[in-house]
Amino acid sequence: MTPRKVRVFSGIQPSGMLQLGNYLGAIQQWVAGQGEKINFICIVDLHTITVPQEPAVLRRQTRELAALLIACGIDPQQTTLFVQSHVRAHAECCWLLNCVTPLGWLERMTQYKTKAARQESVLTGLLDYPVLQAADILLYDTDEVPVGEDQKQHIELTRDIAQRFNGIYGETFVIPRPVIRESGARIMGLNDPTAKMSKSDPTRGHAIRLTDSPDEIRWAFKRAVTDAGREIRFSDDPARAGVNNLLQIYELLSGLSRPAIEAHFEGKGYGALKSEVAEIVIEALRPIREGFERLMQEPAELDRILAIGADQARAVAEPKLVQVKERMGFVLPT
Ligand code: TYM
Repeated sequence: MTPRKVRVFSGIQPSGMLQLGNYLGAIQQWVAGQGEKINFICIVDLHTITVPQEPAVLRRQTRELAALLIACGIDPQQTTLFVQSHVRAHAECCWLLNCVTPLGWLERMTQYKTKAARQESVLTGLLDYPVLQAADILLYDTDEVPVGEDQKQHIELTRDIAQRFNGIYGETFVIPRPVIRESGARIMGLNDPTAKMSKSDPTRGHAIRLTDSPDEIRWAFKRAVTDAGREIRFSDDPARAGVNNLLQIYELLSGLSRPAIEAHFEGKGYGALKSEVAEIVIEALRPIREGFERLMQEPAELDRILAIGADQARAVAEPKLVQVKERMGFVLPT
């Protein structure tokens, strides 16, 4: 018997223009892994509405995200790229999993606690967010979930939900594992290396958006927070987080080893480091920005790609959902 091909699933929210952390923590690994495994990448619009959204903005951002992912190198011939709300099984499976998930597991999630603290009125969907994420992953018999460090707790919860379901109803779900890179797991804000780079922080100079102009990128790196030292070395010391963050960005975009990078910067100052990192980022993002602008001129082509992706995703998710409902004792329609 030929061994089963490894299945990879990951998701990303259409909640604003992507930033360098999304690219280096997640998308770059999705692109690199194409070909040898079975890949699913999902634009998770149902997750995005767990905080209030303007309908016209959500619609625009969903198409922009599809264009940007393709411009980053996601190849719809090799990866099933689709929009979550196009595949109804996700919402339905979420409900089924809600009914095996203890409330206490959700109340403990750190992302929920942080996001809820920022809202005046917390929506039920925000608490339930990780169960929908579990449904996403489990419907595809996923083995690997390539993500940034901030998603680790959600993947662990997914494993707990799957194990609990399997314990109650018998072996149904594959238990997935998170795949988190050592470098790039947590790209930090340029203006504050103690905070994760995030698309929701609007402060100028915090994040590099994938469509930023070269001048904007140079501006942000020039002002990147470093420290009072001089040495340009990789380090776990929190006091040196700014320099370490710049070095990780350089590492992931140059493909060079850490010793080669340290040798390259030997004797140079932080000013040189910042300007070299800015230039390597500008060169890496140039084809992405150009590809994005080209694809945004072809909305019908984008919609066609997403329709094919949704068909491919449904072909996997729907039979899985039937199996789950059968295990739980539902009478299936004939
Ligand atoms: P989202 O949209 O916030 O982020 C998408 C991916 O980008 C990674 N990421 C980062 N990595 C390193 N450094 C950063 N500063 C940084 N910022 C973001 C995230 O870790 C993520 O991998 N809940 C998910 C979406 C989701 C999902 C899923 C993921 C829904 N269903 C199923 C995996 C599997 C989220 O909000 O990602």
